[in-house]
Amino acid sequence: MFRRSSKVALLQKVSLFRGLSGKQLDQIARLADEIEVPAGKRLATAGESGYELFVIIDGQAVAKVARGRTVRLGPGEFFGEMSLVDGGPRSATVEAASKMRLLVVGRREFWQLLTAAPPLGLKIMRVLSRRLRDAEGSVSA
Ligand code: CMP
Repeated sequence: MFRRSSKVALLQKVSLFRGLSGKQLDQIARLADEIEVPAGKRLATAGESGYELFVIIDGQAVAKVARGRTVRLGPGEFFGEMSLVDGGPRSATVEAASKMRLLVVGRREFWQLLTAAPPLGLKIMRVLSRRLRDAEGSVSA
């Protein structure tokens, strides 16, 4: 009980979850695992299958995206959504650029999460659209 409520307190600080109700945050706390990883840890490998969505609580990650570019991702941002949405391989390699604390959501839990908190789906779609434009070269990162 204590662990769940401390996890909800943690989720309240993550910008991706801003605006969600206490009940929704409680459901997310139930569906997501919290992990800590050291700098240099590889979290996704381009071309390989991927089964998790990661939400950054603390620390920085670097994604090696299309055309040899790198994108830094920080607290409140997420990655790994593309493989969960379409079942395809990872589109980029993502590594921890510092010690990190993350929430990890598995494939089945991801769909439960979207049902529990529909506004999250819209937020994820917005970011996906931006990443697509970015990959197409129609905006500068
Ligand atoms: P996925 O393809 O599952 O695994 C690699 C992740 O890197 C991908 O999901 C996105 O979350 C992230 N990613 C891919 N391209 C970009 C980009 N242009 N900007 C930011 N993140 C990206």
